[in-house]
Amino acid sequence: MKFFVDTADIVDIRELDEAGLVDGVTTNPSLIAKSGRDFIEVTKEICALVSGPVSAEVTALDAPTMLEEGRKLAALADNVVVKLPLTFEGLKACQGLTADGIKTNVTLCFSANQGLLAAKAGATYISPFIGRLDDLGVDGMELIENLRIIYDNYGFETQILAASIRSADHVQQCALAGADVATVPPSVLKGLVKHKLTDAGLEAFMADWEKTGQSIL
Ligand code: E4P
Repeated sequence: MKFFVDTADIVDIRELDEAGLVDGVTTNPSLIAKSGRDFIEVTKEICALVSGPVSAEVTALDAPTMLEEGRKLAALADNVVVKLPLTFEGLKACQGLTADGIKTNVTLCFSANQGLLAAKAGATYISPFIGRLDDLGVDGMELIENLRIIYDNYGFETQILAASIRSADHVQQCALAGADVATVPPSVLKGLVKHKLTDAGLEAFMADWEKTGQSIL
């Protein structure tokens, strides 16, 4: 499973990239607002920093303007993926951008039927939102599992990009369910490395090493 980092924060992206944990980046209008940066400038900067796909979201609500915005965003860098909302207009824009050879990420997916429509419109990625479903008491992971079955049943090449991930358990469940990608907030991604037995084991090794009085260097 690939890891995309779900942020527009350059410092976080750089740090995680140095650990080899960034296969791509996803942003959305809320994350751009949180960064306090100019959308176009920060998108170009992220695209130059990472070689993998970088999702940048349109803000228009009608297909013709989405197409115009999408083409502008795609021209910023070779690795831009145009993010479109899962609406009827978004599906039309997805069809149009796909015909232009532009990669798309159809976002705000909350049902398997929506995901089926996005695949039929040629989406490169579908973004099912796990955490926001869990917030409503609905099992978000079931959506990932259902999309996996449907896409495999019909040989759709649309990649399942699990989004709205809130915990390490979400990441593990996505991997078990066969998500192609998980887009993960930096704090959750950094937290995946932690285990109390790793910490305890390392502490014991260091204490014993100290007793030997030796040094490797
Ligand atoms: C990424 O593509 C999504 O926009 C993001 O994962 C949403 O996460 P949230 O539900 O925690 O805002």
